[in-house]
Amino acid sequence: MIVEIKILGYKISMTPLIKSPINYTGNKYRILPQLIPHMPEQMNVMVDLFCGGATVGANINCKKVIFVDNNRVVIGLLDYFARYKNIKKLIKELVKLTDQFNLTCSGLNGYSIYKKKLVEKNTNNGLKEINKDGFYLLRNTYNALTNKGTAKAFNMLYLLIAYGFNNDIRFSNDGQYNLPVGKTDLNKNNIQKIEAFNERMSMIDFEFVCAEFNSQTAQNYIQDSDFVYIDPPYLIMHAVYNENPKWDNESEYKLLDLLNTFLQSGKKFMLSNITEKKGAKNEPLSYWIRTHSEKVTVINIDYHYRSASYNKKLRDANESEIILLPK
Ligand SMILES: C[S@@+](CC[C@H](N)C(=O)[O-])C[C@H]1O[C@@H](n2cnc3c(N)ncnc32)[C@H](O)[C@@H]1O
Repeated sequence: MIVEIKILGYKISMTPLIKSPINYTGNKYRILPQLIPHMPEQMNVMVDLFCGGATVGANINCKKVIFVDNNRVVIGLLDYFARYKNIKKLIKELVKLTDQFNLTCSGLNGYSIYKKKLVEKNTNNGLKEINKDGFYLLRNTYNALTNKGTAKAFNMLYLLIAYGFNNDIRFSNDGQYNLPVGKTDLNKNNIQKIEAFNERMSMIDFEFVCAEFNSQTAQNYIQDSDFVYIDPPYLIMHAVYNENPKWDNESEYKLLDLLNTFLQSGKKFMLSNITEKKGAKNEPLSYWIRTHSEKVTVINIDYHYRSASYNKKLRDANESEIILLPK
């Protein structure tokens, strides 16, 4: 279904926006209406570099999207959801697994029956109390699997995210999923997001590629594309994916080197970033913008419409969220 909507004074035709099936920190869902009008109208192939939860690429009107991220687990899980042929069957498998591990499933049974069972009713802990034991059993079972590439392993991983702390994805250095139990469960929203993502992906051509942003593999895909959307970890923000491996000044300089090659070759691109947050400034990027001001346009993202996914405590009105594109 294509709908025509008016964004920032522009009329554009697009399919309704969908959310990622994984609730990804730093996802761009809420600012998509501010990004899309600045992207090329006609594209055959786009690269969603640092794709994370795939929110941007999944919402662009384009024949083929190449999703690139260096997180093997995220790439594997999204590819699994995108290619699944019978999505109702997948949902049934997930529900079955909740039963097997004694986890709540408000998506099937509603929330109130579980709420009644809570001993501590007035806490802000959601379903944590009920799901604690089942979650840790699921976590141990998943971590003990030798093959993490099977359908069963992906289903378990998805449930760990849906029931885990902040719905985040974190692994220890030795590959063990290590987040504690969270407040949420497999609810109607989660189920709807998996279905909508699967349906959208069935309409386009796509590849999920696990690669470093500046690897030869990524370069090959970029070379054959019409447009690259770039959403790296932000130097002055905190997220699980900023830590391991650490996104530091050196990474930022490598990214700026890549932007230089794009400017030289005339590659169309858009970069998202946060240049300033109360007391902290992304100096390498800010300096690069100043010294390339004749070649790039910087557009401020309206604070009131931006993503609410970063840790709320870290957000404040002094943050400068921007997009940057060649003139
Ligand atoms: C800001 S998030 C992207 C969010 C995404 N645009 C969305 O809407 O969900 C940054 C992503 O960069 C990935 N990443 C971090 N370092 C990377 C690297 N060196 N090469 C490729 N991807 C990297 C992380 O795994 C993370 O998914």
